[in-house]
Amino acid sequence: MSRINEETINEILSKTDILEVIGEKVTLSKQGKSYFGLCPFHNEKTPSFSVEPERKIFNCFSCGEKGNAITFLQKTKNLSFIEAIEDLAERANVNIDFTKFKKENPNSRLYNINNDALNFYKLYLSNTKQGVTAKNYLNKRGLTSEIINQFNLGLSPGDFDLLTKTLTAKGILVSDLYDLGLAKQSKVESFYDLFRDRIIIPIKDEKGNTVAFSGRTYLDKDKDSPKYINSPQTKIFTKSNILYNLNNALNHIKQNNRVVLFEGYLDVIAAYRANIKESVASMGTSLTKEQVKLIKKYTNNIVICYDGDPAGIEATSRAINLFTNEKMQIKIVMLPDRLDPDDYITKYSAEKLNHFINDKWIDGIEFQYRKNNMDIDFSKMLDIERFKKTVFDLIKNTSNTIIESYIRRLAEDVKISQESIRQDFQQYTKRNIRNITHKKSREMDIDNKFIVAERKILNYFLQNFKYVEDFNTEFQGMFYITDIVRDIRIAIEDIYFSNDENKLQSIDFKHFEEALSNEQMQFFQSKVKYNKIELKDQEYLDFKEVLNSYLTEIQIEKWNEEISVAPTIQEKIKLAEYRDLKLKEDKRWTKKK
Ligand code: UTP
Ligand code: MN
Repeated sequence: MSRINEETINEILSKTDILEVIGEKVTLSKQGKSYFGLCPFHNEKTPSFSVEPERKIFNCFSCGEKGNAITFLQKTKNLSFIEAIEDLAERANVNIDFTKFKKENPNSRLYNINNDALNFYKLYLSNTKQGVTAKNYLNKRGLTSEIINQFNLGLSPGDFDLLTKTLTAKGILVSDLYDLGLAKQSKVESFYDLFRDRIIIPIKDEKGNTVAFSGRTYLDKDKDSPKYINSPQTKIFTKSNILYNLNNALNHIKQNNRVVLFEGYLDVIAAYRANIKESVASMGTSLTKEQVKLIKKYTNNIVICYDGDPAGIEATSRAINLFTNEKMQIKIVMLPDRLDPDDYITKYSAEKLNHFINDKWIDGIEFQYRKNNMDIDFSKMLDIERFKKTVFDLIKNTSNTIIESYIRRLAEDVKISQESIRQDFQQYTKRNIRNITHKKSREMDIDNKFIVAERKILNYFLQNFKYVEDFNTEFQGMFYITDIVRDIRIAIEDIYFSNDENKLQSIDFKHFEEALSNEQMQFFQSKVKYNKIELKDQEYLDFKEVLNSYLTEIQIEKWNEEISVAPTIQEKIKLAEYRDLKLKEDKRWTKKK
């Protein structure tokens, strides 16, 4: 392999019309010396992507991608540096033999044979009588000729060995067809085709090499045969390393910064029809670590959309664990009535499928909650216990808002009081969740300084996430004095925690405004918001101290109440001793009192 010299590269670049290259992907319109369009590297509604034909460069003001025609092709077509230059040389009619610059891929011979097979299958679909029957079947399922082309579908004949005969006549070795799984051997010396009377779906690797095929039955006579047969494991195909459609989805994955994961080929095609093009399939078997790693190369955000049957639900649960182990962000879409994406389009429409996938997702915790909830028999105490612990494990490392909301939900579902669930949770995790249910009488005489601290500290939470984190670690619990403040705090935490990458550092006012009701906003404006802008760490610390002293008072009050209702004097003494011991033990309280 030799290196391409810089002069040649410059010559090719100088003969390149960058507007033409980029114009294939982006609709550009002229403004002054530059051309503008919607950036192909991120999702946007107004153009921030510019091309300067004079300097032959592109630049996106919003996401920062920039470069020349070579980089553009590398990124949008997933080409190597040399491949991109070769592409440009062809356009510019510069004649250079590129083979000497490229590493010969040891498998390219096999890829070429697979491509020959694919061309054979495609031709058979488009040019034969049998092809008409197959196309009718596909059309009936909503697959237009545009979709058939897009996914490179083909058809294998019903003959015993037509593919093998045709390709060997062209000089391809039967041993290669055998190694690729396209031909099987019956008796010695006699080879026949693996795929017969099946619609052919080519399977490509992320670079677009055809590595395998799948064949689906479409004739009534084959109703009882396996629905799909797939190429066996070969030198160029390991099923667990491949995701169906990844090569076509790549640019869309980068652009939308997410991937939608399905079970099957037809699901991916259905999604494409619903204009969701960043989709791949794990091909029926359970997702593997290799496939997760493959996705992680391109995005951290996954939408899992498996079938809604029990097998699909199990598979979703396993997939969630795999992605979570890699610290990836998951959303789960569960189509109703056990429909798969294809059925969903048939029953409703492609547009509705699009909306469902984009809007009706749930998060991993919610999915696991529902899944486990389905499995339990509420008449069995053991089942309830198991469910409780499962939920505790799900929520124990999340925000207090989430914990509090699942505790309430769990209480409702298993018909046990919130208070006792909360206690169980504390015991289970040693995490100290306080839910101070305020009594009316108490609210009247709560010291004003507590209320002020509780309100004003919200300003800090809004300004910087570090205060939320700090507060939650120190107080280890959702405690509050007034309902409306609690609700505003939940809204603030929700904004931070629902932010996909947990990257939000502070909350802008507009975002905040949208999350509040009118009443809450009014309260915020009049009772919480500072007129001066400056916030000080010291003031925040003071607020925390005031709130700590509030907790102490509440706790003492609670103990005193317990003492007053204890049935015997011995018990009263014991409780009082315990109270005094605790007060001494707790740094926070000794500091205060
Ligand atoms: P499905 O049965 O859901 O298939 O299996 P599908 O893709 O939705 O296709 P239609 O709509 O029934 O035509 C999901 C995936 O499991 C694998 C295939 O990858 C399929 O896409 N599978 C299924 C097989 O490999 N072999 C089979 O016999 C069945
Ligand atoms: Mn399916």
